[in-house]
Amino acid sequence: MSSLKKIGVLTGGGDAPGLNAVIRAVVKAAHNSGIKVIGLEDSFDGLIYPEKSRPLTPRDVTGILRLGGTILGTVNRGNPFAQPVETPEGTFDYADRAIEMFHKAGLGALVCIGGDGTLAIAYEFSKRGIPLACVPKTIDNDIVGTTSCFGFDTAVSFATDAIDRLHTTAEAHRRIMVVEVMGRYAGWIALHAGVAGGADVILMPEIPYDLKKVAQCIRDRDAWGARFSIVVIAEGARRKGGHVSLVEEASQGHVERLGGVGMACAAELERLTGKESRYVVLGHLQRGGAPTSFDRTLATRFGGKAVELLMDGQFGQMVANHPPDLVSVPIEEVVGRIKTVPLASDLVKTARALRVSFGD
Ligand code: F6P
Repeated sequence: MSSLKKIGVLTGGGDAPGLNAVIRAVVKAAHNSGIKVIGLEDSFDGLIYPEKSRPLTPRDVTGILRLGGTILGTVNRGNPFAQPVETPEGTFDYADRAIEMFHKAGLGALVCIGGDGTLAIAYEFSKRGIPLACVPKTIDNDIVGTTSCFGFDTAVSFATDAIDRLHTTAEAHRRIMVVEVMGRYAGWIALHAGVAGGADVILMPEIPYDLKKVAQCIRDRDAWGARFSIVVIAEGARRKGGHVSLVEEASQGHVERLGGVGMACAAELERLTGKESRYVVLGHLQRGGAPTSFDRTLATRFGGKAVELLMDGQFGQMVANHPPDLVSVPIEEVVGRIKTVPLASDLVKTARALRVSFGD
């Protein structure tokens, strides 16, 4: 029997389908082991401001398994330690105040569900003695130490469905359709949705592209009678020798926002091939809606495993998927790194064998 009596759970960073499934699993697993759960709203702010926390019982999480978003809210604000905390009681250092409030609330540990930003914050708190376990979340699938994150499968399913739909209109008009997908600096969504959707061209951050090569691939398709082409481009893809396309530069508390590469790619391909081109940005649609069954299951397993780690006193760990098992890895091995698509992966090789162009 664990000595833990009360734990906090929070969600941080951009949302991903499956967050609610993790919260539900944490609450139910903890409750069934006699541990109370406090839901912390808006990431670590839930520790700082007492009005941003509430007890969660199994009743509170009934029916949320299939819901996108997060019942706790989330913030995607970069480094919170940079800003002091203003309260009616005075001005405090963010970390000091969070730690003080963690103890005041009688919490024994935290479950932090989030991506690299949240993991980095959790790591700082872990180093300062807060017992915690992390659950990796991102549609981008770019967290090291785990083969998969919940949210990714839902994003890929949505993008695949979108590509299917674009096929019919592309074929009808004999156009080039460029589909911009998310993924930040990794091409997992582009590669998986591109292959699943039968894209002709996949452009991703790991392989800087040359649009002249893409144009040649499109001309070759025209020559054998396929007079339309589908180009999937990751938001973080860039030309050989070029830079990523931004809609917003990084600023205090905010990371840079990627976007715009699909529009530029479509315009340039139209110029190079003389074929009509259109572009679609799938954007946040990839993050919305209900999680797939795969993501619900993975999220539920992650939540159960996080509670198990805390009960076993294994703190400072991130749960990780190593099929067929769930394991845990120290957070310090994860923070500050990203998992990109290995160029020698079988999926890249197979796509090349099927004459998918990567523009290189
Ligand atoms: O990390 C998930 C993600 O959706 C990325 O794919 C994308 O670049 C980013 O978040 C968008 O962030 P925001 O919701 O802050 O615009």
